[in-house]
This record gives sequence, C-alpha cells and structure tokens, in this order.
Amino acid sequence: MTDLKVAIGADHAGFRYKEKIKEYLQSGEQARLIPFGLNITDFGTYNEESCDYPVVAYDIARKIASGEFDRGILVCGTGQGMAMAANRVEGIRAAVCTDTFSAGASRTHNNANILCLGQRVTGEGLMLDIVNIWLASEFLGGRHQKRVDMIK
Ligand code: RB5
Repeated sequence: MTDLKVAIGADHAGFRYKEKIKEYLQSGEQARLIPFGLNITDFGTYNEESCDYPVVAYDIARKIASGEFDRGILVCGTGQGMAMAANRVEGIRAAVCTDTFSAGASRTHNNANILCLGQRVTGEGLMLDIVNIWLASEFLGGRHQKRVDMIK
C-alpha cells in the first residue's frame, strides 16, 4: 500500500500543535493505530509570528483538491477560520473536530479530506487522538456517497 500523503499547515495560533502533530506522526508511535505509511509535508507557518490563516488554508486546500496530496491537517486558534477558508475550494470537505467521534464520522460518513483543529480549544492528548482516528478512518461509501455527491 502506498503512503498517504498528508499536507499540514497552521497559522501562528496553531503553530505549536502543528509541530506536535508532525513530531508525533513522524516518530512512528502512531503506527499501532494507522495501518499504512504516512508521508507528511509541512507547509508552514514556521514560527509564532502573526500571519493570516486564509493564506495557509487556501494553499493546502488547493494541494488536496488537485490530488497532489491525499489529505490535509490545518491548525489555527479554533479550527474554524481554517475550515471556512478551505471549504471555499471546490472538492474540499474540511471538518472542524473537537472530539474523536466527530473525527471518525467526518471520515466514514462525510469523506472529509481536511481536518481542522483548534490549539486554543482542544487539549494536546485529545488532539493527537483526534488526528489518529481521523487518519485511520476510511470513508464507508454506499448511502453516504450519494449525500457527499449532493454537496457539489
Ligand atoms: C488568530 O488570532 C485566530 O483568529 C485564528 O487562529 C483562528 O482561530 C481563526 O479562526
């Protein structure tokens, strides 16, 4: 099975969590839960200097929509602004997740291709569980496919 290509990005308010996610996913610790390889690419921001989340969201959303990357993870203060911006790009289904159930369902039912997280909202341990479950969960298709198609 080929590695899942995952693009990650953040604004200044999500920078710290982006670094944690990158470190965690590259450490191999998640391998117990995710049964395939991950290829992680970080598109910034690279420090805590103030920057604009729509720029990061748009950049990564376009990389997912074009097929260059399979999935994206975006972190800002709440996850909300990232999702609003990413969802303006055709073909993007960005989901803000603050709990593991929604993280799984956003994949199994909604085929979310971008996960949005809030560094000011979600504790670090829960955030990493959300990332694990979101990456490991597959879209169920079937009756859900018709509904996802209707979003277009
Ligand atoms: C930055 O202060 C904050 O507004 C941003 O990270 C995000 O939470 C927007 O949705």
